[in-house]
Amino acid sequence: MQHEPKANSLSSAAAQKGLLFGTALCTSDLQLQPLADAILHNCNIITPEYEMKWDAIARDSGRSDYSASDQLMTFSSANGLALHGHALWWHEAVPSALRNASGKRFSDAALDHLRTTVTRYAGQVHSWDVVNEPLEPAHDRGDGLRATPFLGAFGPEYIETAFRQASLLDPNAVLVLNEMGLEYVSPAAERKRRQMLALLERELGRGTPIGCLGIQSHLTALEQPHDHPELRGFLREVRGLGLSVMVTEMDVSDHLCPRDRKQRDAIIADTYRGYLDLVLDEVRVLAVSTWCLSDNRTWLNGFHPRPDGAPQRPLLFDRAIRKKPAWHAVKAALLHEGQGASDPVQASQ
Ligand code: XIL
Repeated sequence: MQHEPKANSLSSAAAQKGLLFGTALCTSDLQLQPLADAILHNCNIITPEYEMKWDAIARDSGRSDYSASDQLMTFSSANGLALHGHALWWHEAVPSALRNASGKRFSDAALDHLRTTVTRYAGQVHSWDVVNEPLEPAHDRGDGLRATPFLGAFGPEYIETAFRQASLLDPNAVLVLNEMGLEYVSPAAERKRRQMLALLERELGRGTPIGCLGIQSHLTALEQPHDHPELRGFLREVRGLGLSVMVTEMDVSDHLCPRDRKQRDAIIADTYRGYLDLVLDEVRVLAVSTWCLSDNRTWLNGFHPRPDGAPQRPLLFDRAIRKKPAWHAVKAALLHEGQGASDPVQASQ
């Protein structure tokens, strides 16, 4: 039973452009009924925020515990939602027992985890973040690859290995190479974009089954410009490679914004609008997902704490699960409406 987008929802706005709209969540979110309702009303794709990661599944006993990720898989299939699996191989989610492992011990464990997990959900997931955050220009490798335990154990071909294994075990899943920081305006970000294009060309040239580029889209208000020619050019080159894009983890940090709530909410909304307008202009987008849906729970309070100590307001619903101007801005962008077509108003669900 495929989830029919609800009227006046973000998934119905997205459906008009042939794309999915969703968010990241965790099992505890499902216990907060207004939030679960907002997710079901607005989303037709969901991403496990952390409960499907390797370190969340592995146990020191050596056994794996899939109960939380199974619960999210069940929630998605019971409600006709697509599920975007996150993330098979990510250097920040290696189980503690393997953090100092290398060579065959690490590669055997990493392959076993990938095979077991992809097989468990084969035919059920819409897509997978197969490899997350492979690049780090500061690691000064010619290929821009981040020095991770995966690179150490397998060599640069770890990316091909992961994608070929996932493709063998779940041929219908869209396989995504997911990266952070491709959206920014700094020289380092431009270097990262160039390295990503070179990586994609190399991997696609050797037949690595990458179906989609994931652009995490963790934006910072007052830093993310509306006009961003380098990002436009990058997206055009991604399209030229025949790849689609998923906006996988969009949120807008307000740590540089004034404290005033109305001002912050307006600046955040404007940032979402300008960014999505640009991306939707330039490339085929399969799905747009935010990294959680309401300000009641955002990783940004830890990753980008505000200097004044006030809680971040980065998302589309406030802590009482009421729509914010950002909700209206994202809807307008998804509908590709003209500027100002729908003035952001504070409205309850
Ligand atoms: C973050 C989660 O939001 C946190 O709850 C967790 O403690 C750490 O990971 N890029 C990613 C995500 O790909 O998996 C990260 O999510 C945020 C950055």
